[in-house]
Amino acid sequence: MDKHELQLVIEELHERYRTLNDGAVATYIPELAKSPPEHFGVAIATTDGRIFEAGDCDRPFTLQSVSKPLTFGMALEEFGHDRVLRHVSVEPSGDAFNSIELQNGTNRPHNPMINAGAISVTALLHSRFAGETSDRVLQRLSAAAGRRLTFDEAVYDSERRTGHRNRAIAHLLLNFGVVHEQAEHALDVYFRQCSILVTCRDLAVIAATLSNMGRNPLTQEQVYDVQSVRNMLSIMFTCGMYDYSGEWAYRVGVPAKSGVSGGVMAVVNRQLGIATYSPLLDARGNSCRGIEVCAELAARFGLHAFDCLNAGSRFLEVVL
Ligand code: DON
Repeated sequence: MDKHELQLVIEELHERYRTLNDGAVATYIPELAKSPPEHFGVAIATTDGRIFEAGDCDRPFTLQSVSKPLTFGMALEEFGHDRVLRHVSVEPSGDAFNSIELQNGTNRPHNPMINAGAISVTALLHSRFAGETSDRVLQRLSAAAGRRLTFDEAVYDSERRTGHRNRAIAHLLLNFGVVHEQAEHALDVYFRQCSILVTCRDLAVIAATLSNMGRNPLTQEQVYDVQSVRNMLSIMFTCGMYDYSGEWAYRVGVPAKSGVSGGVMAVVNRQLGIATYSPLLDARGNSCRGIEVCAELAARFGLHAFDCLNAGSRFLEVVL
């Protein structure tokens, strides 16, 4: 049988960007420095449950910051929008993901995609679920991926031992009363959520779950409610790629989230989830190959939300 056009395109992009060696593997978490720079996967999952893969789509890597919108969604469902927004704002910061700063006047972190905001969100979850919090996060993310995920104990331990910058952020939040007294315990959950292992294929399924209004297209489980998905995607659209978010929105035009282990997930609303994995990062902590592959897919299939062809029209033509 002839290969599907989408399969041919991701194979072509994988082949083209395999030789792009810009960027460097993250080293500030010692265990991540061991990531082989040549690992590279591209996967797409559609809302009707089809999966297309090229390259290293079965190699496990840690979610890192890609976990942030997913815990934000959990907090929204647990506490409601108003309560969550007392602990974190929804403004792009234009600053680095690990910057030690809070919003002027309100003393809240700028948004839940940067470390300060994600720690604040996790602390909120911890205030309700205490010792069960990391297992609850693991369960929800497993439901989004459609299979039982696990923690990478070595990466968790490595970040727990060296994450002093995040510790400083947690204590700054404690100083302003944004997080509760057990800031260290909450931080521990944050390190755990970052250490959840996924494959590029899992990440595409998670992205497709968001694309499919919160329903996992493989298991049909409703993992997030529709309203939280709307809020998660909005924040990914404006803040998901850190201080590259504006350029990403301009160039690629879909909600996305990156992580320092090299993952990028991008969501084409109501149509598909894209995932890339390549540990070579640019100075902002985004995967160099991931950015290029997503930009090229968006251009080829008209995926940009404000594409003149109408979002996704070319994709619909090809796939449906
Ligand atoms: O807190 C940290 O620094 C890491 N665990 C996660 C940061 C991250 O993934 C930023 N993404 N590009």
